[in-house]
Amino acid sequence: MKSLMVLVFLISLSLQSAFGQSLKANMESANSLFKQISATMNDASRNASNAAEINKMVSLFEKMKTQSPDSGSFSEYQTLTQELIMVLKDLESAFLANDNAKVQGLMQKVNSLKKEGHDKYK
Ligand code: HEM
Repeated sequence: MKSLMVLVFLISLSLQSAFGQSLKANMESANSLFKQISATMNDASRNASNAAEINKMVSLFEKMKTQSPDSGSFSEYQTLTQELIMVLKDLESAFLANDNAKVQGLMQKVNSLKKEGHDKYK
């Protein structure tokens, strides 16, 4: 009985890594990266590490683009997610170019896309 339980546990772990995290869990991971970036976006000494964190957010949203929300149109959700990915890529470039004025404007865009996404699909 014990070994059966261990087997079931191991199978569930491998299924999780094969299929990845839920949309909600991925959003939460993106959120902790975004909070960290928001708190340090005006500190130019953090630009390289913030660019790397934004790159992680891009990978998360690429995954989330394939994960359907429970409500709303999936294709419109995908269009909005793609728009966000493009802004995040611009942000990565702005951090790498040490253009913190541009960073500020792009962070505002990310916040408004986040709000729009949550108003429509969450
Ligand atoms: C930087 C941008 C974003 C951040 C940091 C973010 C963060 C989050 C967080 C923390 C949650 C979990 C809330 C909870 O239920 O406890 C969430 C849920 C959700 N977000 Fe976002 N979000 C962002 C952008 C977007 C965009 C652009 C969309 C849509 C195009 C979107 C769609 C959703 C949906 C559908 C859920 C509910 C997921 C579920 O519970 O299954 N989010 N988001």
